[in-house]
Amino acid sequence: MSKKIFSGVQPTGNLHLGNYLGAIKNFVDLNNDNQNECIFCVVDLHAITVKQDKDQLTNNIRETAATFIASGIDPSKSIIFNQSKVHAHAEGSWILSCMAPMGWLNRMTQFKEKAGKDKEKASVGLYIYPILMASDILLYDATHVPVGEDQKQHLELTRDIAQKFNKDFDCEDFLRVPEPLIKKNFSRIMSLKDGLKKMSKSDPSDLSRINLTDTKDEIINKIKKAKTDSLPIPNEYQKLKDRLEAKNLLGIYSSISDQTLDKTIDEFEGKNFSDLKSQLAEVLLSKISPISDEIKKLVNDQNYLDKVLVEGANKAEEIAGKKIKEMKKIIGF
Ligand code: TYM
Repeated sequence: MSKKIFSGVQPTGNLHLGNYLGAIKNFVDLNNDNQNECIFCVVDLHAITVKQDKDQLTNNIRETAATFIASGIDPSKSIIFNQSKVHAHAEGSWILSCMAPMGWLNRMTQFKEKAGKDKEKASVGLYIYPILMASDILLYDATHVPVGEDQKQHLELTRDIAQKFNKDFDCEDFLRVPEPLIKKNFSRIMSLKDGLKKMSKSDPSDLSRINLTDTKDEIINKIKKAKTDSLPIPNEYQKLKDRLEAKNLLGIYSSISDQTLDKTIDEFEGKNFSDLKSQLAEVLLSKISPISDEIKKLVNDQNYLDKVLVEGANKAEEIAGKKIKEMKKIIGF
């Protein structure tokens, strides 16, 4: 069956191995399947929910597009564009925010985490951001949305909003209810320093993550310094239950090598972490360094990146513009 794929990544700099294994690597596989229609969005309207430096934001938009392309997304097959170029996203977001009850938004755990203790000072945009995300997805009739585990709740909200709109306006199936595509076992890559924390661009310690633009030496050094424990690697995955950092490194190795966790356990059973770490560094260098080199090359070719983004926005506008028109007609505008 052909799938309509939509997903987005925020241009906030420091895209890391978690973004790659949880999302972008899957975008590439979906792009490579000729049956799919794929749209990958640099969600710059999402980025301004927290303060951004103007020039940095412009650079980060290009760098995120460069990362998509460097990872293997082909702009002649998939649409790559930045969200702020297509008006319908913001317009759809307003309409849907008038349909979604506050109670649904109050349940969003990511807002609670991001806003922290000082909720009163967080922007209203940060609070309603999941509705903008719903608008992104629903405007394109996406059937499948590849994301990491941390976006699961937002996708459930998207599904609820679509169903409520269809019911409220008696327009069954107008908004397509999308399915999440979340890779089992590899959808939550953890910090290299703390197995309880997600790998994240906002972690103050750069040693907690592998950035997609890290040099070879930085990758080797970060893997060397990654937290582990003193026990050897067991013969069954279940025995790793409470060994979070060990589990994370084995998961990263499996995911980047495209093999099952069981196969990785077989490969390393009884060995020490130093063996796993040296093999992991090697495979990361072979997979991530070429991407990193390509990102650095592409960001120097601004004209090319801007051309990809403009062409992508024109194609996206055609699809989303039509949908928002129909949506407004249904409402009575
Ligand atoms: P963002 O920009 O925070 O992250 C981009 C993608 O990377 C995944 N990810 C991870 N996966 C595994 N382990 C991690 N440690 C990790 N960190 C990040 C995220 O799950 C995500 O898939 N709201 C979204 C962007 C968005 C979007 C959309 C996604 C806006 N509109 C429509 C899908 C569809 C976000 O902030 O992702």
